[in-house]
Amino acid sequence: MTGANEELATLEQEILARVASSDDEAALEDVRVSALGKKGSVSQLMKGLGAMQPQERQVMGPALNGLKAKIGDAIAARRGELHNALLEARLAGEGVDVTLSVRPERRGTIHPVSQVLDEVIQIFGDMGFAVAEGPHIETDFYNFEALNIPPEHPARQEHDTFYFNEREDGTRMVLRTHTSPVQIRTMEKQAPPIRIIAPGRTYRCDSDQTHTPMFHQVEGLVLDETTHLGHLKWCLEEFCKAFFEVDELKMRFRASHFPFTEPSMEVDIGCSFEAGHVKIGTGDDWLEILGSGMVHPDVIRAGGLDPAKIQGFAFGVGLDRLAMLKYGISDLRAFFEADLRWLRHYGFSALSQPTLPGGLS
Ligand code: DAH
Repeated sequence: MTGANEELATLEQEILARVASSDDEAALEDVRVSALGKKGSVSQLMKGLGAMQPQERQVMGPALNGLKAKIGDAIAARRGELHNALLEARLAGEGVDVTLSVRPERRGTIHPVSQVLDEVIQIFGDMGFAVAEGPHIETDFYNFEALNIPPEHPARQEHDTFYFNEREDGTRMVLRTHTSPVQIRTMEKQAPPIRIIAPGRTYRCDSDQTHTPMFHQVEGLVLDETTHLGHLKWCLEEFCKAFFEVDELKMRFRASHFPFTEPSMEVDIGCSFEAGHVKIGTGDDWLEILGSGMVHPDVIRAGGLDPAKIQGFAFGVGLDRLAMLKYGISDLRAFFEADLRWLRHYGFSALSQPTLPGGLS
């Protein structure tokens, strides 16, 4: 019996030594198979248990099981060590030297929409506007109802809304069709004076050369006790001149209708078409670029404020359209095709941030 025990002890030492010296997964697997596999040394000994005298078996059974467990544990532990070592080696090998100078060739570029958004934020930021945000998945209340667009209102048809499935209570969430719901969300969160722009993605079921199902808008909202139409006009004129980087810009405020403003105006800017290219500023043609108006009393009320005390203006402008006009891009769909050649052509350097003093574009 002592002989058998000694034999086991030697076997254990031998196997554990092989486990410890295995320096990759394959070597470790070889050890496992040669000890615990079907024909492995330990498995063979276990098979012999049946032929033993009961007394002997009582001793050898637990001893062999103990050995089997010990070897299994040792293999698992070694596998963990090998795994960590491999990871360490990979991490060390993949190190990046952040002190290296930037490669001369331009790699990534800024998408025109991001560029234009940065420009818009710079301009309005300079006028004291903060940036606000809201969710893309909206309730009917924020997207329509609170903006004075009741069910059955014809404006709902114009929006080609993406609806979610009806919920148990019969209501349906929508993908916001404009950034105007952020007006209401801002009024709920913040007391006047309010001066915000809310840029972001908007969604409508529409697709052609100048429409994509997802597009970008910037909403503007100014609310306090004294802001009037003159402020609206000045603010939008300043914006357009700064954005298109021209000193002279013909503008036209055309009476229009939006449910959430009263009175409502659409803003056109002067332009001319030369050899197929549009030149912004002067000329005999007009381009419509945004919608605006004095915030409707119903909207102010829906935002939880008192329209007898609080007044102001709002506007909404399509960012993609601004980008197309400023940078001469003719097909909106190209914005979202992720074609690197297009991006390299129209993209902007990641290293130059638009600023008012330094130049926007
Ligand atoms: N929400 C309008 C749209 O998507 C745009 C708009 C027009 C926003 C006039 C305004 C506004 O805030 O005053 O078509």
